[in-house]
Amino acid sequence: MKNASIRIRLTLWYGVALGLILVIFAGVIYVVMSKAMQDEVDASLEEAAAVAVRTLGEHRFGPFLIFEDLSQDFPELALLDKFFQIFGPAGQVTIQSANIQSREIPLSQTAFQASLNGQATFESVRFDQGVPFRLLSVPIRHGERLVNILRVGTSLQPTVDMLDRLLLALLIASPLAVIVSLLGGWFLAGRALRPVDSITHAAQRIAAGDLTQRITAPRSTDEIGRLASTFNDMIARLEVSFRQIRLFSADASHELRTPLTITKGETELALRRPRGAEDYRKVLESNLEEIDRMSRIVDELLFLSRADLGEIKLKQVPIQLDDLLRDVQQQALVLGKDRQVETVVKEISPMMVSGDELRLRELFLNLIDNAIKYSHPGDTVEMSLVPNGEKGEFIVKDQGIGISLEDQPRIFDRFYRTDSARSHSTKGTGLGLSICKWIVETHKGAIRVQSMPNQGSSFTVLLPLSPSIP
Ligand SMILES: Nc1ncnc2c1ncn2[C@@H]1O[C@H](COP(=O)(O)OP(=O)(O)OP(=O)(O)O)[C@@H](O)[C@H]1O
Ligand SMILES: [Mg+2]
Repeated sequence: MKNASIRIRLTLWYGVALGLILVIFAGVIYVVMSKAMQDEVDASLEEAAAVAVRTLGEHRFGPFLIFEDLSQDFPELALLDKFFQIFGPAGQVTIQSANIQSREIPLSQTAFQASLNGQATFESVRFDQGVPFRLLSVPIRHGERLVNILRVGTSLQPTVDMLDRLLLALLIASPLAVIVSLLGGWFLAGRALRPVDSITHAAQRIAAGDLTQRITAPRSTDEIGRLASTFNDMIARLEVSFRQIRLFSADASHELRTPLTITKGETELALRRPRGAEDYRKVLESNLEEIDRMSRIVDELLFLSRADLGEIKLKQVPIQLDDLLRDVQQQALVLGKDRQVETVVKEISPMMVSGDELRLRELFLNLIDNAIKYSHPGDTVEMSLVPNGEKGEFIVKDQGIGISLEDQPRIFDRFYRTDSARSHSTKGTGLGLSICKWIVETHKGAIRVQSMPNQGSSFTVLLPLSPSIP
């Protein structure tokens, strides 16, 4: 059963449940029907007996009762299915209706005793190995004296026939209903489960390495539809991250190859013939620069992969953000000296956040470093810190080369650098903003960019504030 397909299991469960319901249902119907029919027979016997007793009264309880008289006065008594017997006080038959013919149906002891006690008795009996009868014996008393016993009887054959027919109908209809429902269940289960098969096939093709595969299940919102769209979303995300990983390794190798090639080339050139100390010094200096660059890339890569693995734990301490930013501004002034880019504070409000001071400093420095790097000499970089609802809003704004609209969503990707940035400055690896994004997100904040090519950019960081400690 465990290995059977869901379709078989569903169908079987369905069939078994319906079968059980039908058995109970048929049993209840049968019992209720037979009880109702017996009650009806008993009621009609009682009614007939009442009529007969009344008639007997009119005939003064003599042994002269003639059934034909009775049936004349009360045509309903002549109904074919009832017979009458009248017994004397000693229990012997005195008169009986014609439709009983010569059959002997003696008074039972129980009925006689009950009659002596003034009680009517119902009995079911079977004569001649066949036809069952229902009998009602009613005592007729004159004062305290038992005068006669009236017996009304009827054949139960029609009732038995009816119940037999009902039983037959139930016995035929129930298995039929189960079979039809099994077929219907099999069909419906098959239809409902067909998309699962297509999901399985798509998954197999995807497992074989084709991440462009999608499931073509109907776009419904039922369970299967939701499964299919969840599955498709998952594959889409997998596809994106697979592509990113591939790009990432390609970019990483490429970024490391450039400084390596430069170092190698310069060293080989220097070694080609003997040179003076000054020449060697220049080569070593240049090599050191490239080595610095490589170790920065490796450090940043290491940081990002550890961040991906969740190995970097951030501190959660209260930080006076405005103090931190004033500090950062001092560093920015030094950074911008060479390029004659001045960093000014436009507005700064005191506020507290909870987080990791080192990482936040890195975040702001990265953004200001970009602003300075991509500015023109003589430009000014503005920074501000203002509260914005529950958040603190840090803005750094430059008048530099700007970022085109198409590039804006991609600058936070690892190694992504815009073409204008490449031609503007050769330094930089394109990892700074991905690190910024990671820092902001782990502080439950958000980072946004607004920019126009050749007019400047502004980066906004929103960080949740923590209530200042008095
Ligand atoms: N203020 C800015 N003005 C114009 N372009 C920017 C600015 N900040 C970022 N960019 C663009 O986004 C790209 C990615 O920025 P990111 O800081 O990640 O890399 P980078 O500055 O080139 O290198 P580094 O890893 O040294 O920071 C940059 O190469 C540049 O194209
Ligand atoms: Mg940068």
